[in-house]
Amino acid sequence: MNINKKIAVVTGGASGLGRAASQLLVDAGATVIIFDMNESAGEQAVAELGAGSSRYMQLDVSNGPDVESAFENILEEFGRVDVCVNCAGIGIAAKTVDREGQPHDLDLYRKVIEVNLIGTFNVARCAAAAMAKNEPDEKTERGVIINTASIAAFDGQMGQVAYSATKGGIVGMTLPMARDLAKQGIRINTIAPGVMATPLMLAAPEHVQDGIVANIPFPKRLGEPSEFGQLVVHITENSYLNGETIRLDGGVRMQPR
Ligand SMILES: NC(=O)c1ccc[n+]([C@@H]2O[C@H](COP(=O)([O-])OP(=O)(O)OC[C@H]3O[C@@H](n4cnc5c(N)ncnc54)[C@H](O)[C@@H]3O)[C@@H](O)[C@H]2O)c1
Repeated sequence: MNINKKIAVVTGGASGLGRAASQLLVDAGATVIIFDMNESAGEQAVAELGAGSSRYMQLDVSNGPDVESAFENILEEFGRVDVCVNCAGIGIAAKTVDREGQPHDLDLYRKVIEVNLIGTFNVARCAAAAMAKNEPDEKTERGVIINTASIAAFDGQMGQVAYSATKGGIVGMTLPMARDLAKQGIRINTIAPGVMATPLMLAAPEHVQDGIVANIPFPKRLGEPSEFGQLVVHITENSYLNGETIRLDGGVRMQPR
């Protein structure tokens, strides 16, 4: 799909990977609507994007009615949605049984599932319903949805039991969603990033970063958010990519800890 003059929704667009994806989509000519909980960062991101018509909406991606009405508002104002990139997500660290012998907090487990897995599906289902209203383009496409998993979906480390479950769920729903939406001409793909240089990771002590980088075959560095953004642009433009999860990780396979 040609990105120029298209309408793109990016969740988690106020920070990190979503912020970078928003910038590359704007640079390719799209109008971006950011869904994010963090109002000040969301407003700042939109101001910095350098695209007059781009917008920030304060939203919790896991809230069904709020996301439904956000898409209704976008359809009223912009008339269409062409691209949806799901980046909103949270991470926690907790083992199945902790050092004191206590079982994993179940509410914490539910919270991560709620934001990462249900939030991704919630936005994807509403985006798909909006895209289905589009006239097909010259390649018979009506829309593209890109979800963000993690390599923790495949090689989750100790303490990632909840996070990995959410990311595995996102990988698992990629193909059936692509099959569900084939008739409407909507493609679904998922990116599984490795360790990326987002604010959270850059705040980690140098020795922690060095330890991670030591395991990466090549290139020996953290991934750049702009490299995630580049892949978002490529998936959007390449009409034959569908139902797939792509690792973006420098070839790393995470160790147990
Ligand atoms: N950074 C990495 O190394 C890495 C690696 C693999 C996967 N990922 C995944 O990529 C995505 C983005 O990660 P990041 O590093 O850019 O994180 P980040 O914390 O920099 O950005 C995430 C954004 O999501 C927003 N958000 C969180 N919960 C939300 C909710 N319920 N509703 C709306 N917005 C919400 C936050 O406010 C924030 O702006 C996440 O899904 C993460 O799991 C990141």
